[in-house]
Formats: sequence, C-alpha cells, structure tokens
Amino acid sequence: MSVNLKVLTKLSAKFAVISCLLFSTFAAYSQAIPTEEAVITAGKALFENNCTQCHKVTDEVVVGPGLKGVHVRRPMPWLIKWIRNSTLLINSGDAYANEIYNKFGKTQMQSFDFKDAEIVSIVAYIKSESEKVVAAPAASAAPTDGGTATAAQPQDTTSMNLILVLFVAILAIILIVLVLIISILTKYLNNSTSLSDIDKEVVNTKYDFAAVYNSKAFKGIATFVFVLVVGKACIDGMVGIGVSQGYAPTQPIAFSHKLHAGEYKINCNYCHTGVYKSKSASIPSTNICMNCHNAIKQESPEIQKLYKAISTGRPIEWVRVHNLPDLANFNHATHAKVGGIECKQCHGPVEQMEVVQQYSSLTMGWCINCHRETAVNGKDNHYYDALMAAHAKNSKEPMKVKDIGGLECSKCHY
Ligand code: HEC
Ligand code: HEC
Ligand code: HEC
Ligand code: HEC
Ligand code: HEC
Ligand code: HEC
Repeated sequence: MSVNLKVLTKLSAKFAVISCLLFSTFAAYSQAIPTEEAVITAGKALFENNCTQCHKVTDEVVVGPGLKGVHVRRPMPWLIKWIRNSTLLINSGDAYANEIYNKFGKTQMQSFDFKDAEIVSIVAYIKSESEKVVAAPAASAAPTDGGTATAAQPQDTTSMNLILVLFVAILAIILIVLVLIISILTKYLNNSTSLSDIDKEVVNTKYDFAAVYNSKAFKGIATFVFVLVVGKACIDGMVGIGVSQGYAPTQPIAFSHKLHAGEYKINCNYCHTGVYKSKSASIPSTNICMNCHNAIKQESPEIQKLYKAISTGRPIEWVRVHNLPDLANFNHATHAKVGGIECKQCHGPVEQMEVVQQYSSLTMGWCINCHRETAVNGKDNHYYDALMAAHAKNSKEPMKVKDIGGLECSKCHY
C-alpha cells in the first residue's frame, strides 16, 4: 500500500513537470504571436495579396494545405524560415519540411522576401482567423455581400420576365372575353324580333379587310414603319462596324476566370504580370500555369494540354479577345497603376466569367467619355501636386483627365 502511494506521488510529480514543460512551451509559442488589431490587419493584407491563391485558413486544401491552426502545429522560427525560403529548409534536411513537400507532390511554394515582423503579422492573422473559424462556424456559412449581390441580379431579371408573361396572359384573356361578348351579342340581336332589316344588315356586316388593306392611310403607315425599321438597322450596323462588344471566342483550353480569379481569388496580376508596369497586361505563359498544375488535376484532359505544350515547346494559342486598331495607343500601367482604375471598370466582372468576353465597346467615344468625367488620381502621386494647385486656382471642379491632355488626338494616336 505504502509502496503504491510512493509510486503514485513520483508519477504525479513527473506528470506535473511534463505538463508544466508542455504548457510553458505552448505558452511561449502563443505569447510570441501578437493579438493587436493593427498587426492582424497588416497580416491579413499580406496574406490576401500573397497566399490566398494557394491557401485558405480552414482545413481545406487548395494548392497547399489548409493553414488553420498552423501556428500551433509549427513553432514561429520554423514558420519564418519556411515562408522566407521553403526550398532552403527542405534542402537543410528538416524532417517536417520534407514530409510535407513530398505529401504535396513536390509542389514548390514560392519564396517571400518578408521581414520577421511581416511574417509574425501573417501568423497573427492566421491565429485570429483559426480561432474565429472554431468560435463561429455559422459566420462562414452566411453569404457575403458579394454573394448576395451576384445572386440578386438573375433573380431580378427572372421576376421581370414573370411579370411580362403574366401581362401578356392577361391581355390574351381580355381579347378572348371581348370576342365572346361580340359573338353572344350578335346572336342575341339576330334572334330578337324587334330589329328592322337595315339594323340587321349593320349587325351582320363583316369587317372588310381588303378595303382597309387598299386604303391610302394603311399604305402610308406601312411604308413609314418599314423605312423606320430598315433605317434603324442600317444606322446600328454602321455605328457597330469594328465594334465587337460581347465577343467571347472559344479558347484552346477551357480556362475559367470564374474558377481561378473568382473561387480561388488568384490576383489578376499573378497571371497578367504586365498590367501594373507596362503597356500590355500580357497573357500568362504556360510556365505560370505550371506553378500549380504540375500537381493539380494532372489527370484532367484540359491540363494534359498544358503538359503537351511544355513538352513540345509550343505555346498555347489563346484567341485574342480585345483588339484595338494599330492607330490607337492604350497603356495599362497608365490606367491601372497611375490612374488607379480597377480592371472591372473596363473589363466588367471577369471573376464571374467562365469565358472572357469583351465587356466595353472600346470605341473612341468610350475612351473620350471617361477622360471627360474621371478626375485625375492625385493620391500618393506628388507628380500632380503643382498641376493640381494651378488647376484649383482657375476652377472649382476637380482636375479631370481632359485637363491634362486626355482629349488631344496625339495622346491616343500615333
Ligand atoms: C504557389 C502556391 C503557394 C503560395 C503562393 C503559398 N504557398 Fe504555402 N504552401 C504551398 C504548398 C504546395 C505547401 C506544401 C508544401 C510544399 O509542397 O512545398 C505549402 C505549405 C505551407 C506551410 C506549411 C503548412 C503546414 O501545414 O505545415 C505554411 C505555413 C505556408 N505554406 C504558408 C504560406 C504563406 C504564409 C504564404 C503567403 C505568404 C504561402 N504559404 C504562399 C504553396 C503555396
Ligand atoms: C490563373 C491565371 C489568370 C488569372 C488569375 C487571371 N487571368 Fe485573365 N486570362 C488568363 C488567360 C490564360 C487568358 C487567355 C485565355 C482567355 O481569354 O480566357 C486570360 C484572358 C484575359 C482577358 C482577355 C484578354 C484578351 O485576349 O483580350 C482579360 C480582359 C482578362 N484575362 C482579365 C483578367 C482579370 C480582370 C483578372 C482578375 C480579376 C484576371 N484576368 C485573372 C489567365 C488569368
Ligand atoms: C495558383 C494556382 C493556379 C494557377 C497559377 C493556375 N491554376 Fe488552373 N486550377 C487551379 C485550381 C486550384 C483548380 C481547381 C482544381 C480542382 O477543381 O480540383 C484549377 C483548375 C483548372 C482547370 C480545370 C481542370 C478540370 O478539368 O477541372 C483548368 C482547365 C485550368 N485550371 C487551367 C489553367 C491554366 C491554363 C492556367 C494558366 C493560365 C492555370 N490553370 C493556372 C489552380 C491554378
Ligand atoms: C481604362 C480601361 C482599362 C483598364 C482599367 C484595364 N484594362 Fe485591360 N484592356 C483595356 C483595353 C482598351 C485593352 C485592349 C488593348 C489593345 O488591344 O491594345 C485591354 C486589354 C487587356 C488584355 C489583353 C492583353 C493586352 O494587354 O492587350 C488583358 C489580359 C487585360 N486587358 C487585363 C487587364 C487587367 C488584369 C486589368 C486590371 C489590373 C485591366 N486589364 C485594366 C482596357 C483596360
Ligand atoms: C474608365 C476610364 C478610362 C477609360 C475608359 C479610358 N481612360 Fe485613358 N485615362 C484615364 C485616366 C484616369 C487617365 C489619367 C492617368 C494619369 O493620371 O496619368 C488616363 C490617361 C490616358 C492617357 C494619357 C493622357 C495624358 O495626358 O497623359 C492616354 C494616352 C489614354 N488615357 C488613352 C486611352 C485610350 C486610347 C482609351 C480607350 C481605348 C482610354 N484611355 C480609355 C481613364 C480612362
Ligand atoms: C482618349 C483617346 C483618343 C483621343 C484623345 C482621340 N482618339 Fe481617335 N480613336 C481612339 C480609339 C481607341 C479609336 C479606335 C476606335 C475603334 O476601333 O472603334 C479611334 C479612332 C479614330 C478614328 C477612326 C479610324 C478608323 O479606322 O475608323 C479617327 C479618324 C480618329 N480616331 C481621329 C481622332 C482625332 C482627329 C482626334 C483628335 C480630335 C482623336 N481621334 C482623339 C482614341 C482616341
């Protein structure tokens, strides 16, 4: 009995020490992760700009593992090394790094040139998000603003259609009732004995369509309507020459922006790498696709086309959607970076498109209208300070693109 007691106290002492150790290491990890709102917000921005194309903060695998709880799974120094350069860590022989690298089909996670504090802020965001997912599973199920907005639109058009159909149905019913009333009345009058012969003739006259058809008034109206319809078609056709709004050609690979830019939230400039720094937004090379598709959906026939392109060295021949004539000069960096205009203002909701289509008319009038209406973006751009000050002296209106030469022929035409 006494022996047992001794063993028991020894054991419990050991247990206490071990759990104390465990707790303190755990506490050390969790203490290292800040909880200030500002740090979490900074981490959120970094995460959304760099990580969302491959990771979610849930258990769901995107390209890489779900990062929920990774702050508990891995110590901070490991996370810092991994995020800064995962290849270096793998090559150093780190067991965990090699295990996860092999588990994800040797997909390389890219390196990030972040400072320690930046990585800590990302982990702080992951921690706060992981705890949110645990605390409020219902919140993630609730529709986001974007979700309801997109759902509302088709609903509106279907209810409009329903109203139209109802309206036509009601008109048809009224017509049938009127015809019925006429035939009943005619029958009644014919049967009544108090009608004179002349009255009867009036009641039974058939409507003479031939007479109407041959009348001058009818011919006049018909000619007028015909000229109107043909004229409108001609004008539309002439205005529309060279305008290919709505053009959505079939592409050699069934690439979906809805999936990549919408669902997986891959940034536009991850693929269209030139958009903030050069004239052309550029179409991604096959290598950019391979960053992910050397591991994802290898078995899909559409993805096999990527492998074939790589092995034959022949690029994929995407069909061009937008095409300004050579006489016009358009620059993406000027608009998307300097002007601060969002892609969707010119390209529409690309992240909802299965197949990209030309959203705007791309006519000269379209360019000019926007230059007339849009104020120059002077935020964080001191280049315009002096011009804006000079403009403010002469006008109460904000400085528009037209005021800096946006309507000059030579700016847009070579
Ligand atoms: C191009 C895709 C890609 C991007 C972008 C990316 N990762 Fe990864 N990440 C991976 C893959 C794939 C793995 C799995 C290991 C491997 O195959 O290298 C991984 C693994 C990880 C792990 C280890 C997860 C675990 O469960 O142990 C962490 C942590 C991580 N990534 C953080 C980040 C952070 C933070 C960012 C953004 C700064 C980021 N990753 C951006 C693809 C990516
Ligand atoms: C994963 C890579 C990827 C991402 C992310 C991506 N795109 Fe694309 N984009 C492509 C490819 C490939 C094409 C050519 C095939 C096609 O037209 O569908 C393309 C074509 C386009 C075109 C038509 C180009 C033409 O031929 O005139 C526009 C416009 C466009 N993308 C805009 C966007 C916008 C806006 C976003 C962000 C919301 C975006 N893209 C995100 C890969 C991407
Ligand atoms: C950052 C990662 C990433 C990049 C870059 C990327 N994709 Fe994808 N792609 C995905 C993911 C994730 C899926 C969805 C896989 C799934 O449904 O399981 C996908 C699915 C697809 C599919 C559908 C396959 C099928 O059969 O369901 C096609 C086609 C595709 N991608 C083409 C491309 C092309 C072409 C490019 C290059 C312009 C590209 N992807 C670049 C991540 C990426
Ligand atoms: C002010 C309007 C405008 C904005 C903003 C804009 N684009 Fe464009 N985009 C155009 C026009 C116009 C063309 C046709 C250019 C041509 O044919 O020379 C085009 C063409 C493209 C193309 C086809 C390839 C090329 O460079 O010609 C891609 C891809 C593209 N845009 C992506 C984007 C992305 C991604 C963004 C947002 C970061 C964006 N665009 C913002 C007007 C715009
Ligand atoms: C959605 C609005 C919008 C549309 C559409 C648009 N632009 Fe612009 N554009 C701007 C803004 C804003 C600037 C000013 C950028 C800056 O601050 O330098 C600009 C500047 C320019 C400039 C430089 C002007 C200068 O004086 O420096 C040229 C050239 C130009 N746009 C050409 C075009 C052409 C060509 C089209 C049509 C294919 C077009 N833009 C369509 C908004 C637009
Ligand atoms: C903001 C940019 C912009 C400015 C400023 C501008 N244009 Fe244009 N212009 C365009 C674009 C873009 C097109 C091509 C439209 C199309 O293909 O439908 C065009 C087309 C034209 C065409 C028709 C060419 C053809 O082949 O149909 C003529 C002519 C023309 N511009 C003359 C002018 C003159 C003259 C001025 C100065 C008063 C001027 N433009 C100013 C953008 C501009």
